[in-house]
Amino acid sequence: VLLAANWKMYGSPSQLAAYCEELLPKLEGGPHQVVLCPPFPLLPQAVMLCAGSELAVGAQNCHWAREGAFTGEVSPYLLAEMGVSWVIIAHSERRKLFGETDDTALARAKAAQEAGLSVIFCVGETLAEREGGETLSVLQRQTAVLAGLDPQKLVIAYEPVWAIGTGHNATPAQVAEAHAFIHERLQELTGQAVPVLYGGSVKPQNAGELLATPGVAGALVGGASLDAGSFFAIIQAAPVAGAKG
Ligand code: PGA
Repeated sequence: VLLAANWKMYGSPSQLAAYCEELLPKLEGGPHQVVLCPPFPLLPQAVMLCAGSELAVGAQNCHWAREGAFTGEVSPYLLAEMGVSWVIIAHSERRKLFGETDDTALARAKAAQEAGLSVIFCVGETLAEREGGETLSVLQRQTAVLAGLDPQKLVIAYEPVWAIGTGHNATPAQVAEAHAFIHERLQELTGQAVPVLYGGSVKPQNAGELLATPGVAGALVGGASLDAGSFFAIIQAAPVAGAKG
């Protein structure tokens, strides 16, 4: 099972130090794959603190070029050279607030893989889309660009936009339906089984049920990942069968 912490625009050097001090000993010898995605400036510290531990480090975005005149952007090659091994691409906040499109998301994901990073690629419908009965067609469109990616370095995160940061997680039935659809799509597009994470208000109280839902290979956790204790409670709720993948 893969559990990824998306810190979004939260955290500080002192918080990161305290977090790792609490979490790393608990993860030792654990059965799951765990990834921490803090803001860019904390990545070097995270890589240093997590060296030799069970916690891998990921970024929350990256650019599609190796280098260039792209003020404010970060190259996936820089991330890889620094010891970062994962990157989140196309998070719904990037799509909604920062103009991410299916095409720019694909370009970033491709470059990230070429740089050696593994990609957590986010998809998911808005509330209006779900209520309009468009969930599966949105997922169809968002996954359509993924055919050219390396399935070995790819994980999909199904994150219904209406469940992110709202406290209202999708129901296991909704999750199972979306995950089955995404699985089938990725199998079709890449010829391989690609793990699908669930994201959207995952917390210690609902993690057991969500992670036990058919087709769920792990979770992408926002708010509840900021506290080491609550993130670890979510990790502990993950089923051990099928671990490390
Ligand atoms: P949340 O965020 O857990 O705070 O709902 C999830 C995400 O945005 O990845």
